[in-house]
Amino acid sequence: MTSSQNLFSRIYRKNQPKQTQVLGIMASPRKGGNTDVLLDAALKAARESGAIIEKIIINDLSFVPCQACEEVREDGRCKIQDDFQKIYEAVLSADSIFVASPIYFGSISAQLKMLIDRFQCYWRAKHVTKTINDAAMKQGGFICVQASSGSDFFDNARAVMKNFFTTTGVEYCREVFCSGLEKKGSVKEKPDCMEKAAAMGEKLSSHSF
Ligand SMILES: Cc1cc2nc3c(=O)[nH]c(=O)nc-3n(C[C@H](O)[C@H](O)[C@H](O)COP(=O)(O)O)c2cc1C
Repeated sequence: MTSSQNLFSRIYRKNQPKQTQVLGIMASPRKGGNTDVLLDAALKAARESGAIIEKIIINDLSFVPCQACEEVREDGRCKIQDDFQKIYEAVLSADSIFVASPIYFGSISAQLKMLIDRFQCYWRAKHVTKTINDAAMKQGGFICVQASSGSDFFDNARAVMKNFFTTTGVEYCREVFCSGLEKKGSVKEKPDCMEKAAAMGEKLSSHSF
């Protein structure tokens, strides 16, 4: 490559918009289930819109619930060394976060609640030790499925998610709630839900939302 070509390629790269990093967090233990299918639809749309995507299946990881030790490392990380650290780093580096959970006994799954509680270290780092500054907001989307109808359980789940997103500097931008789903993967027969998930993926795959 000549020096003028080299210069051109550097200027060209500099002017390219940064690719959005989208993190999908799957909170159902049932792979290929309704939560998983909708999250995949959202992530596929995000990738097709130019985002770099990463997916974490909480149930595949090994971590303990928050021990309320109130000890945070100087860098704001939790002191307990387990798989939570992987999720923490992924959340920090993402621009958009999609969280997907089934309704279990009227709220989010235990897997997701356990993960959220571990972010107490983030809360302490932000508000107590003041070692985290998350002024640059991330974008957040929430997918939730249930067998029954009605909105009460989704209201519960939304309240927890909004709390989690606010704590971690994420704006609650979109939600996809689908009812009447019991059989594994039956959401594929609900085109309106699939379309809403894809629309969320497309919308939250760029920095300008
Ligand atoms: C432990 C457990 C608790 C559940 N609790 C509820 C509930 O309170 N309300 C409801 O509508 N569905 C409930 N369901 C049904 C799931 O929300 C529903 O089947 C959902 O589609 C499962 O998502 P998945 O396919 O991603 O696993 C429960 C399922 C399980 C396994």
